[in-house]
Amino acid sequence: MAFKERVFSGVQPTGNLHLGNYLGAIKKFVELQDSHDCIYCVVDLHAITVWQEPAELTHNIREVTAAFLACGIDPKKHIIFNQSQVAEHAELAWIFNCIARLGWLNRMTQFKEKAGKDRENASVGLYAYPNLMAADILVYRATHVPVGDDQKQHLELARDIAQKFNNDFASSIAGHGFGDAFFPLPEPLIQGPATRVMSLRDGTKKMSKSDASDQSRINLTDDAETIALKVRRAKTDPHPLPGDEKELAERPEADNLVGIFAALKGISKGAVLNEFGGAQFSAFKAALVELAVAKLGPIGAEMKRIIDDKAYIDSILADGSARAQVMAAETMKSVKDIVGLVRR
Ligand code: AMP
Ligand code: TRP
Repeated sequence: MAFKERVFSGVQPTGNLHLGNYLGAIKKFVELQDSHDCIYCVVDLHAITVWQEPAELTHNIREVTAAFLACGIDPKKHIIFNQSQVAEHAELAWIFNCIARLGWLNRMTQFKEKAGKDRENASVGLYAYPNLMAADILVYRATHVPVGDDQKQHLELARDIAQKFNNDFASSIAGHGFGDAFFPLPEPLIQGPATRVMSLRDGTKKMSKSDASDQSRINLTDDAETIALKVRRAKTDPHPLPGDEKELAERPEADNLVGIFAALKGISKGAVLNEFGGAQFSAFKAALVELAVAKLGPIGAEMKRIIDDKAYIDSILADGSARAQVMAAETMKSVKDIVGLVRR
């Protein structure tokens, strides 16, 4: 059975949306709109796996929504909503808690990083997080998932869960007339020159919302002056830019800035090196500032404009949630039948 192609992805409302979120994820969300039906989710239930101040959480949910809109996602043709308004995500996640094995979750590197040394004190939600993520995708039976490189392992787990569900319930799936697979195996879309944008202060560390140094990232709401300052101060090595990609790969800070430039401009790293190979960083950084301000300036300004209109943002989320829920409820009906639960 061929599944209808459908795109799903999510962003956590945890503040400080940055260039990594944009180049690794949101920019791709925008591009996929022309070729696919897309569902983009503000994953608030994922955010609360670590402590969130309630008033900040509310603000951050609206801010991610404003970012989706400002970057150019069309909420009428596609769906923008927040996870907690569609209860079926949590419902399917419970079923998946009973499908996924402890051994699978024990391998998740993001849990190990986020839980740190004090693992006993991490929330149960943080541990079960990848099961909820699988539910987000599969409750819509989505086939394609644009994400940054750091989500690759979680996507593999989602595929394992889908596969095990299909196998475990093969006989009742067939009995219900869905062919031999109920869930598609969702494919990660992790491509291009900026699938892992690194910190501007340390080319070996991922650019992250939670880095204590604001200088380490370019926020989507940074103004032109701030962007310029952060790029000019970005860590580099003392050599001019290399002419080929092999040499670039050995120089993390240079590689990162070239990758950012390439992704912003929509060209390859090789093409950037053709233009700037042999140039000093001062010249390259000046060009990068100009490009970054041209691309990000309008997004930041639009975000700031939209964020003030709470009623508008909330209406987008309510409308998107209602449309998403129709699809999710349909899946849950079938899942209950397949598992053997009695329903109304
Ligand atoms: P999060 O903020 O963790 O919800 O991430 C939202 C999306 O941005 C996910 O698809 C991540 O993989 C992606 N992302 C986060 N940080 C980076 C980064 N430094 N480089 C590339 N993609 C990223
Ligand atoms: N785990 C993702 C992140 O931290 C966010 C996310 C939650 C997601 N559910 C998803 C991404 C489903 C893609 C599909 O970035």
